[in-house]
Amino acid sequence: MKNNREQWGSRLGFILAASGSAVGLGNIWKYPHMAGQNGGAAFTIVYLICILIVGLPVLLGELAIGRNTQLSPVGAFKKLSNASYWKWVGFLGVSSAFVILSFYGVVGGWTLRYTFFSLFGGFDALSGNSDSSAKIFSLFVSNDINPIFWLILFMSLCMFIIIKGVKSGIEQAAKIMMPIIIVILILLVIKGLSLEGGKKGLKFLFMPKFSDLTPSSIVMALGHAFFTLSLGMGTMITYGSYLGKNQNLISSALWVIILDTIIAMLAGTAIFTIVFAMGADPSSGPGLIFEVLPTIFPQIGGGVIWGTLFFFILFMAALTSAVSILEVITSYFIDQKGWTRERATLSFGILITIVGMFCSLSMGSFNDFKIIFNISFMDFLDELSSKYMLPIGGALTALFILSKWSVKTFLDEILVGVQTRKFDKGLLLNFLKVLLIVSSFIVGLIILNELFELFFGSSLQKIAGF
Ligand code: TRP
Repeated sequence: MKNNREQWGSRLGFILAASGSAVGLGNIWKYPHMAGQNGGAAFTIVYLICILIVGLPVLLGELAIGRNTQLSPVGAFKKLSNASYWKWVGFLGVSSAFVILSFYGVVGGWTLRYTFFSLFGGFDALSGNSDSSAKIFSLFVSNDINPIFWLILFMSLCMFIIIKGVKSGIEQAAKIMMPIIIVILILLVIKGLSLEGGKKGLKFLFMPKFSDLTPSSIVMALGHAFFTLSLGMGTMITYGSYLGKNQNLISSALWVIILDTIIAMLAGTAIFTIVFAMGADPSSGPGLIFEVLPTIFPQIGGGVIWGTLFFFILFMAALTSAVSILEVITSYFIDQKGWTRERATLSFGILITIVGMFCSLSMGSFNDFKIIFNISFMDFLDELSSKYMLPIGGALTALFILSKWSVKTFLDEILVGVQTRKFDKGLLLNFLKVLLIVSSFIVGLIILNELFELFFGSSLQKIAGF
């Protein structure tokens, strides 16, 4: 079985595929408005610290577990823990993948629809009119048929890529799409900076305003560090399992982090330079992309092209991420159940599309869930996964390495494929230990805080008097 496991074709291919997973809606849609609302560069600094302290060790941990076992999460945990209860961390990952993709696919469908909407000049009628833009968006998402059509299209593309396999599907798609995303983002940044008043956007995003930084924005930065690096559900274990022993895990992980961060910064710059140049509201939060941008693209020269390019890269970023999420489920059924790639992908891709339909309908006429639980089915899945399942998965992965696999074996795995031997291994071992303890501790604290808020209506920060 080990011999016929597919592997990445090249080191660059792996880095692009892994950063394709990392770069998604989180970078282009979520990061800019979070930074905008939480103190600009002050938020970015905290976010970068979180990426280095918590993100890097867990990313390395996931990649090492995957490469060491050459298996996807369930099989990997099973193998390394001699079939003890740790395999449930793997099952948690597969379930998180199911939950996340159910709503991620819906938003992926929106990006596709907005790409065509812009291409056919649909934004023109919205020029400068944020009320009608917001109305069009809410009419679209609450429609019973339209978003489902785009969801099916998006999920079909996702299944198509996965069925083609690791090398000629996932890797190939990332090799084509990631460079396009970077080039178009750079063009958008140049365009944004060339607009009169665009530089004010730079100031907004990059001037640290420490007074805007609250404890809750620090928590947000940490949660986002996890989400943006695709950690906590075994995506990187799965991608690591297609790696050969000759790969340098440390430099690959650093590359993924660097690309992910650069793309988030470029997206933030492109968006805020354009928003400021056109005098739009920079703090409009999550609606910034689908409601505000369509009103300002028609006002800049060549707006149809820029708007279409923007939504097109958002769509591609979402697609490469969605692929990495579905691959976790597909590889579980291939590794553990002996299914073929086609059967696993189609069965679960279709099932997730159906759950996604309910997500989409939950914002329209099928809103019973909201009536009963006071939250839409879509928001429920989003909160369940990003606030609880992913951080718990990430913290358990760190704990697994600390308590079961041993940091020493972990370090040995990382060092396979590293050429230079000029370092103090004992020092590195302690350093890794501290990082893993710190990350599981911090993440544990955050989950506790969330649970406290959920059950007692008040967060620990408030109780502590922040
Ligand atoms: N990282 C992606 C983003 O920023 C989303 C994503 C893909 C993800 N795979 C994941 C998030 C696994 C958590 C876990 O949009």
